[in-house]
Amino acid sequence: MKMLVLGSSGGCGRQLVHVALQRGHEVTAAVRPGSRWQAPAAAKWVEGQLDDGAFLRSAVRGMDVVLSAVGLRLPGLAPWARPEVPDLLTRFTPLLVEAMKAEGVRRGVFISAGGVGDSFGAMPGFFKAFIRGTALRHAYRELEEMERVLGESGLDVTICRPTGLTDGQRTWKVKVAAGLSGRATISRADVAGWMVDEAEQPAWVGKQPLITVTGAAA
Ligand SMILES: NC(=O)c1ccc[n+]([C@@H]2O[C@H](COP(=O)([O-])OP(=O)(O)OC[C@H]3O[C@@H](n4cnc5c(N)ncnc54)[C@H](OP(=O)(O)O)[C@@H]3O)[C@@H](O)[C@H]2O)c1
Repeated sequence: MKMLVLGSSGGCGRQLVHVALQRGHEVTAAVRPGSRWQAPAAAKWVEGQLDDGAFLRSAVRGMDVVLSAVGLRLPGLAPWARPEVPDLLTRFTPLLVEAMKAEGVRRGVFISAGGVGDSFGAMPGFFKAFIRGTALRHAYRELEEMERVLGESGLDVTICRPTGLTDGQRTWKVKVAAGLSGRATISRADVAGWMVDEAEQPAWVGKQPLITVTGAAA
């Protein structure tokens, strides 16, 4: 398949590029201008801003699926910390939807986060307080908006909501959780593997599965 990876320079994005190439897909990695990350030689790469509709349109052209690992860059989690671009997803998501519709690309797999939307209730109490009381609240507000716009887009979109991300190895033990108990984590490699699986064999279109390796409630 022809796969576009947005946010390819980030922790999950790099894993997405890696896994998709391993599986023999034709991968295009999108980065912002000046990014110091270099995509593997086997991938194509394109450079542009996420709030540039013309760039997004040319990037999605001819793709079978868009995989997005775009998320806010936070300088820290202190309550007063401000994201580098606070309205990144509010600006980027409608432009991406427009670009996909204009180019006839219907399929997307996106990363949101455990605790967004109706998964908030599944979070442990301390984590609810953590989301509300730290700079994470900016990211969560933006992810809510991203999910809303994608949900209303009419496109064939899967939005995964991972629990705490780690840089561990891929385990192939991803579960879709109805609830959580204890420490809930998933490696970026497992998130990427799950997303590429979902791109190849869609099972969660129109849904927002909470995905984790540890901490799924029995
Ligand atoms: N951390 C967690 O435990 C956790 C848990 C659940 C969900 N999540 C979600 O998962 C997402 C992916 O995680 P991650 O660890 O891969 O994040 P990450 O390493 O911070 O990657 C974020 C990606 O978004 C891009 N990006 C950010 N701001 C941008 C801008 N203004 N213009 C263009 N690109 C921009 C980054 O590009 P640059 O490299 O150029 O900055 C990077 O490619 C997070 O952003 C978060 O929403 C995180």
